[in-house]
Amino acid sequence: MTSATATHTVILVGASGDLAERLLLPGLATLLEHSDREVSLIGTSRHEWEDGAWEAMLERSSESAGFAKDRLSQLLVASDARTVDPSDPDQLRSLLEDAEGSVALYLALPPAAMQGIGKALLEVGAPDDLRLVLEKPFGESGDDARDLNALVSRVLPEERIFRVDHFLGMNAVLGLLGMRFANRLIEPAWSADTIERVEIVFDEEIALEGRSSFYEGTGALVDMLQSHLLNVLALAAMERPESMDAGLFRDAMAGVLAATRLDGDPADASRRARYTASHGTPSYVDEDGVDASGDTETLAELRLAVDTPRWKGVPFILRSGKALGTNRRLLTAVLARAEGIEGLGSRPQSDRISVDLETGQVSLTLSLNADADPFSLAPTTAETHTPAPTLLPYGQVLAAVLDGVPLLAVRGDVAERCWDIVEPALTAWRANLVPLQEYAAGSDGPEDSLTFP
Ligand code: BG6
Repeated sequence: MTSATATHTVILVGASGDLAERLLLPGLATLLEHSDREVSLIGTSRHEWEDGAWEAMLERSSESAGFAKDRLSQLLVASDARTVDPSDPDQLRSLLEDAEGSVALYLALPPAAMQGIGKALLEVGAPDDLRLVLEKPFGESGDDARDLNALVSRVLPEERIFRVDHFLGMNAVLGLLGMRFANRLIEPAWSADTIERVEIVFDEEIALEGRSSFYEGTGALVDMLQSHLLNVLALAAMERPESMDAGLFRDAMAGVLAATRLDGDPADASRRARYTASHGTPSYVDEDGVDASGDTETLAELRLAVDTPRWKGVPFILRSGKALGTNRRLLTAVLARAEGIEGLGSRPQSDRISVDLETGQVSLTLSLNADADPFSLAPTTAETHTPAPTLLPYGQVLAAVLDGVPLLAVRGDVAERCWDIVEPALTAWRANLVPLQEYAAGSDGPEDSLTFP
């Protein structure tokens, strides 16, 4: 490193991967642009770096955050790319010794690679101010997550382990708390007394984008529902924490997820599907690196029940898929029907409160008088206009890591619980008890969906 002034060093393990370039480094760029934190970055890979590859990557990341290509390099106190095997204790030791200030060891790696590094860290010993940052998915199964938790808890206290879920860094997701608990109108209405159904949908137009080595064997359920959408559910359904203290907040998350379970038989309460060729997108099975005889799904749906007095009888539908016709990132709370007045028209469609998970826009759709006729009703929507967030979600998450505040990190017990919730569906899918449906790329997904039309 060239400078002695950094107060934080981020050691990014797996820095040559697509996650680093696509999400993490752009997030870091927004954080440094909008704060005065002094950060040095060491990017590591087990492979040799080609000349100029690291610099080019920083430039692309900077541009994808909306800055000039040299901005990220300017904002960093120093940056350096190295070839390191961090599961080798000697190599890990010298990496940690070179870092200045508080150190975030960020493992942007698939779960299988984490055990080896955890063991090396146990041997080397964690420096006093180390934060260990672990990307999702956390483990490959519930048992694997428990093994990983047992290992990392021997290395560091829970408060210094940051299991990342960048959805917890999204303004729109955190905004659910303000919307729910700070508004006199919404707060008392946010329960089974008023809401009959909740949908959390994250449909993406993007297809595989060359990520088969990660996606194969992971699939939509583990990639998106097991982590991201269950955490959104937690914020949408939790009881009010006394404060935004990390302990209390994470207790509230754990509490609601402990009460969450698959709502019935997996054949009835889950759907899986994958896309076929259409609109210029090849079939999933024809994508590079995909095993055509395998059964990785590119769309997953679950119907969950939240067994708390607040949510008795209210289904929560979680859905995410790739190569769909429309980007639809929406939490929708469908309101139960009010009694109405005979002769004054009937409700044309369900009233609802929706939150756009990308923009944070809140929409309230009510049955109101139709244009000219006071005796008929039409759905009418009022929408908020929410300013774009200053930080990208990964910037928000990294800020908390650097500050040593575990508020936006997934606690160990929550990571395990999220596996326990989805495992009945995964087990049924592996046993082929739920058919793997197909949908044309660019369409709205399979017809047999758990979501409302
Ligand atoms: C990632 C998933 O965690 O989240 C991707 O691995 C998904 O498959 C992405 O596309 C969605 O988040 P964002 O922030 O890119 O919309």
